[in-house]
Amino acid sequence: MAINDVLPEPLPAEPLHLAAQWLAEAVQRADQPNPNAMVLATCSAEGQPSARVVLCKDIVAEPGFVHFVSNYHSRKGRELAANPRAALVMHWDHSHRQLRIEGLMRQTSAAESDEYFAARARQSQLGAHASQQSQPIASRGGLVAQLDAVTRQYGEQAPPQGSVIPRPAHWGGYLLWATAVELWVEGDARIHDRARWTREVSFDEAGTPRLGAWHATRLQP
Ligand SMILES: Cc1cc2nc3c(=O)[nH]c(=O)nc-3n(C[C@H](O)[C@H](O)[C@H](O)COP(=O)(O)O)c2cc1C
Repeated sequence: MAINDVLPEPLPAEPLHLAAQWLAEAVQRADQPNPNAMVLATCSAEGQPSARVVLCKDIVAEPGFVHFVSNYHSRKGRELAANPRAALVMHWDHSHRQLRIEGLMRQTSAAESDEYFAARARQSQLGAHASQQSQPIASRGGLVAQLDAVTRQYGEQAPPQGSVIPRPAHWGGYLLWATAVELWVEGDARIHDRARWTREVSFDEAGTPRLGAWHATRLQP
């Protein structure tokens, strides 16, 4: 990918197909260890932002959300429960591309989280039970002891030697429903190419999303 790549002209009517394509291309390039890593920013009810890296499981262009998994009792989980708005950034240095997304967060259904958890490696399943993410612990040894305890409980091996590991209720998926997307391509002499798309997103009482049309704007770098 040359540094002089630019965004399509005219801009596409919606941004997430291109965003998903950028992610797929970054994965295919295989020149960075975690091409699906993204910085996720949340904000407490008091307005204190915090950010951390999580792994993007998918960008679903239609209807337009980003999927990742985490612990609902973690700091991010508590902040999202109090304030379900978030922002994320993905940066592909070798591709000279940045993707920014803002939106409204919803948890995936319990059934979807169950399905995703069941497909995870057994060690990851054990880890999800062993770690009370973001809670203090006196020592590394204490954490190892917690992991040993859940390993004894469920067994190191998959069934029939060990037992099926149920999803902990505090572990599951999140969907960030995009209300704003910015695509950025590096240009020579810092004359980068930038465009931002916005749309309205709301949820009815049943949790069904109502999605407005995307509006695109080209921005100065
Ligand atoms: C490359 C990388 C990938 C990560 N992936 C995840 C993830 O998918 N989910 C997750 O909960 N934490 C993930 N983490 C750990 C988080 O960055 C963070 O430490 C953890 O979620 C606790 O954050 P919190 O206390 O702000 O909730 C990842 C960290 C790195 C460096």
